[in-house]
Amino acid sequence: MSGFKTFAVVGAGDIGRFILEELVRHIPDETVTSVVALTRSSVGYEDLKAQGIVFKTIDYSDPAGLLASLQGIDVVISAISGGGLLAQISLADAAKAAGIKHFVLFEYGNPTIGKTEGIFGLKNRVREHLLALDLPYSQFFTGAFADWFFDGRPEWAFDLPNGKAVVRGSGNAPISWTSSPDIARYIVYILTHLSPAEQKNTRFAMEGDRKTINQVLEEYQTRTGKKLDITYESKEFLEKQVEEHPDDFENGVIRRLFLEWENGQGQTGTPEEVNKYWPEFRPAKVVDVILRL
Ligand SMILES: NC(=O)c1ccc[n+]([C@@H]2O[C@H](COP(=O)([O-])OP(=O)(O)OC[C@H]3O[C@@H](n4cnc5c(N)ncnc54)[C@H](OP(=O)(O)O)[C@@H]3O)[C@@H](O)[C@H]2O)c1
Repeated sequence: MSGFKTFAVVGAGDIGRFILEELVRHIPDETVTSVVALTRSSVGYEDLKAQGIVFKTIDYSDPAGLLASLQGIDVVISAISGGGLLAQISLADAAKAAGIKHFVLFEYGNPTIGKTEGIFGLKNRVREHLLALDLPYSQFFTGAFADWFFDGRPEWAFDLPNGKAVVRGSGNAPISWTSSPDIARYIVYILTHLSPAEQKNTRFAMEGDRKTINQVLEEYQTRTGKKLDITYESKEFLEKQVEEHPDDFENGVIRRLFLEWENGQGQTGTPEEVNKYWPEFRPAKVVDVILRL
């Protein structure tokens, strides 16, 4: 066991709320003793508060306030959004000052080590800051969130209930898919079961399934009997859009991600590396997740 018992999750959004809920599930067996959510506003989140999660309000421009919020915490889990990525620098500085034992970096995608461009480059920059601080960290590479990509968010263009999908790229690149509840389960298992030395500055790769987008859409059509209207954007179009508009969301983030996949960067690790630290982990398959949405 790690001996890590007290946890702060920073940001209670898409992935943060699943991690918070998984942590509180382990309070009855005393694997976890306390869970706090740190957010810029504590208004709302009634469902999480009802589960015993304490919310504390933080201000990233107030180092003394951040330091006070982190007292008595073993592990900080960063789950803030892309827009707040660099807020992790002040968070990490406060964590170091507060004597935090371990910091989970804001990742939850594909490997970013050594990357220099876009959100991937910023994530790598934050990791380098943790190294310079000598604050032990870990990174969880999850691949694409199976339940998030296909839940009908218009910007990702998989409108399966209405029979439409836009595939950016050929759709033939293998991609790692993991559902949000499985991501939370794997993270909490590692944080509570591996020793601090095993976790220090380690990258953990997980994967619920490995399939191309075309395979996912094909299986979905077979299992539902629905015919999808699928259109494609070429790799050349993606490259042009990313190059010409690197700073807008649609191109600098969305199409950049699809281009990474098209270029073979869509997997969290080798088949031997994924899920390696928890052999009993039984994550859901991507189309099973979609059919439950
Ligand atoms: N692989 C995938 O498929 C996938 C999908 C989604 C996300 N992700 C990754 O998961 C991570 C978390 O994303 P998410 O979707 O969970 O985030 P999110 O729900 O968009 O936001 C999480 C929290 O970040 C905080 N936040 C927002 N803007 C901020 C700012 N400017 N400064 C500081 N805090 C800010 C907000 O909390 P408060 O306002 O309450 O402080 C918000 O609740 C990111 O690394 C993202 O790249 C991956």
